Amino acid sequence: MAVENLKDEVHIWFAATDTPIDTAWTGTLLSMLSSEEKARFERFALPQDAHRYLQAHALLRTTLSRYHDIPPSEWCFRLTPLGRPEIANGGGPPLRFNLTHTEGLVGCVVSLKSDCGIDAERVCERAYVMKIAQRMFNTRDHREMLQLTGESLLRRFYSEWTLREAFVKAKGVGLRYPTRKIAFSTPDNGSVQAKFDHTVSDRAAEWHFRLLRPTPGHIAAIALRQSHAEPKIVQRWTQVSL
Ligand SMILES: CC(C)(COP(=O)(O)OP(=O)(O)OC[C@H]1O[C@@H](n2cnc3c(N)ncnc32)[C@H](O)[C@@H]1OP(=O)(O)O)[C@@H](O)C(=O)NCCC(=O)NCCS
Repeated sequence: MAVENLKDEVHIWFAATDTPIDTAWTGTLLSMLSSEEKARFERFALPQDAHRYLQAHALLRTTLSRYHDIPPSEWCFRLTPLGRPEIANGGGPPLRFNLTHTEGLVGCVVSLKSDCGIDAERVCERAYVMKIAQRMFNTRDHREMLQLTGESLLRRFYSEWTLREAFVKAKGVGLRYPTRKIAFSTPDNGSVQAKFDHTVSDRAAEWHFRLLRPTPGHIAAIALRQSHAEPKIVQRWTQVSL
């Protein structure tokens, strides 16, 4: 993948994490990670969480190396004051990225210059769906969700959730954003229009959103801060390896 393509494209790389990885492969992936990442890997209580973390970070590093001549193990990251990881290596193209991991799937979005965020979730039963919707989504969304049940309710919930999560991750603000102040309309063609309440400073014209269905069991969304024409979204699957 040439970095030039990112001038008018945004790339998303997904990897499935359902297949257990053996000791040799674990060692290979660990060799790419920084000492901080290795320490976090060691701290996970559950092996499946540790392995998903490992695969996500190996995916991130191998993905960035597709766009710039730096080996996966040599990428350095720093955190913004609000905790968003960014590239700390100097001198390369102005790559931006965001990472997500969920049961069975890891994903990474890459753009040039533009703030970008990604969130993926496994579509599964979850406690307090309507309570979360009432607290985090706007009143109209919550009211519409009251009419839904079963699979339609879950699909709506995870679509609304991943779109908001991708947005707060693109902004890098985490839990601080009043996510009830965004309304999304999602026509069936996968494009998404956002409407922001007048009390927040964000403007819909500055943002692009897209809902994705990377697998039948997952919903994902990306958010991209870019005021010019809608970029082409290129989605790829890969296996995490050196
Ligand atoms: C990290 C956070 C931003 C997302 O967490 P999450 O959905 O559980 O996890 P994801 O797997 O999608 O993303 C985690 C990755 O996001 C990145 N990340 C961490 N903090 C971030 C921030 N402030 N901004 C952007 N990205 C961040 C990291 O790469 C992290 O992976 P890592 O910990 O392995 O390095 C979370 O702390 C958060 O604050 N979420 C907001 C919750 C919320 O209010 N959602 C509203 C939805 S309606």
